[in-house]
Amino acid sequence: MKKYVVTGGAGFIGSALVRGLLALGDGRVEVIDNLLTGKRGNLDGVDGPVPLHQVDIRSYDDIAPVLEGADTVYHLAAIPSVPKSIDQPVPSHEVNIDGTFNVMRAAAAGGVRKLVYAASSSAYGDTPVLPKVEAMSPNPRSPYAAQKLMGEYYRRLAKGEGRAQALRSAQQAMQSSAATAHPYYWAAFVPIGDWRAVLAK
Ligand SMILES: NC(=O)c1ccc[n+]([C@@H]2O[C@H](COP(=O)([O-])OP(=O)(O)OC[C@H]3O[C@@H](n4cnc5c(N)ncnc54)[C@H](O)[C@@H]3O)[C@@H](O)[C@H]2O)c1
Repeated sequence: MKKYVVTGGAGFIGSALVRGLLALGDGRVEVIDNLLTGKRGNLDGVDGPVPLHQVDIRSYDDIAPVLEGADTVYHLAAIPSVPKSIDQPVPSHEVNIDGTFNVMRAAAAGGVRKLVYAASSSAYGDTPVLPKVEAMSPNPRSPYAAQKLMGEYYRRLAKGEGRAQALRSAQQAMQSSAATAHPYYWAAFVPIGDWRAVLAK
């Protein structure tokens, strides 16, 4: 049985992802969520036991034991708001950047095979060009956009083999068979094993 961990699993998208993973029927699912905007009720009626670890991704020590030994970690926990990133920049930065780094670090230390990171189409900024494709240069126009992009840039620092593809919107995902085969596709795929080399330095 595989072990899946969903950070932000009590949120809007995360709770749907939890249901999707349970429907696969090949593993157990655990959730990390501090219930800032997520709700326990979002997981009501899920098809199976789903431990909800009410911890904060800003605390490495709290999340590391949960991530340890997971096959795949889906990192969705965030403060996903442009206005909040402007009006309350400190918590936005700490959760979206420091928290994301903690998740990457704990995943590497815990032998996680794959980390799926929720990126954002806000990375494109206000360009009028359509359709938006991954080859377009990012042009973040808000702290939130820059924060989400940071996770993608960390992925680029990873070395060696592994699937690494930035998918920032559903529209792009629909053009990618690899992505549509996946239950969650607003994501950048991080070959987490390579982080060991990065972190060992
Ligand atoms: N909704 C969209 O259209 C969209 C588009 C692109 C990307 N995303 C990304 O998808 C992810 C999920 O978005 P959503 O729309 O479901 O938002 P959401 O607010 O419903 O989910 C975020 C979850 O993270 C949790 N959380 C926040 N801070 C935390 C912390 N410090 N520690 C632990 N948990 C914490 C919240 O309680 C919540 O359950 C985010 O990373 C977001 O940036 C969303």
